[in-house]
Amino acid sequence: MSGMKRRMFLKISLGLAGAAAAAVGVWSSAVVYLEKRSYQKSRKYRLPPREGKKDPKILVLCFSRSGATELMARKMALDLGADLIKLKAPAYRLGYLGWVNAMWDVYSRAKAKISPGRLNLAQYNLVLLGTPIWLYKLSPPLWTFVRGNDFRGRRVVLFHTYNSNFSEEEIDKFKKTIVERGGKYVDHVYILRNRILDQISSQELVARAGMIVRERKKVWLGRNWGGVLKQEEGRDV
Ligand SMILES: Cc1cc2nc3c(=O)[nH]c(=O)nc-3n(C[C@H](O)[C@H](O)[C@H](O)COP(=O)(O)O)c2cc1C
Repeated sequence: MSGMKRRMFLKISLGLAGAAAAAVGVWSSAVVYLEKRSYQKSRKYRLPPREGKKDPKILVLCFSRSGATELMARKMALDLGADLIKLKAPAYRLGYLGWVNAMWDVYSRAKAKISPGRLNLAQYNLVLLGTPIWLYKLSPPLWTFVRGNDFRGRRVVLFHTYNSNFSEEEIDKFKKTIVERGGKYVDHVYILRNRILDQISSQELVARAGMIVRERKKVWLGRNWGGVLKQEEGRDV
């Protein structure tokens, strides 16, 4: 290759690399911006006040970065009369750095720094665990919680929100881990939000969460349950 051709080749390669880097930069900034907007919308969404009895034997625990899974969790806790705990994991806070950390940690299967790390779950009969999907997988904060806690004798439900796709293999792994940790895996429910520019509203998300509770509550609570259902319906299920 002549010197001139080599220089031309170099210029074109650098130009293409620069354009690719700029495209990734613009795309990721747009994603981070839209996530913040989605978070603000779900924070603003007001749920009605709690009605009926609180059932101290049910826990809804979730990790949520941009608010969608949290909104689903809040609605489920409200309708079940359950305790609600949100896992804190500051490494994945909203914004560019949190997004990069999320990508990296889910890819490398890193253990997350979470709070609370350990909980006494013995007081609960039913534990519902919620997370967003990251790179087809459950988020590291949820995995860290599951691997660090004792589920002996607890019925466990997995719930998640997501934009388009998740891995069934990951769900099987979750099931297996719960059983290894002494729990009884009961159900898996989820809400599809669609691609980032075409997502369902907070109102729709809450409506779907309510419908899931109505449809699945009996399966979750199971037979011989001494709590809410007996009182509400006057019969065992
Ligand atoms: C780092 C990262 C990776 C993601 N990967 C996926 C994915 O593989 N499949 C999918 O459907 N959604 C994916 N999403 C979208 C989230 O699962 C979805 O927006 C979810 O509802 C966010 O929940 P949250 O608001 O509770 O954090 C990803 C989001 C982030 C931040």
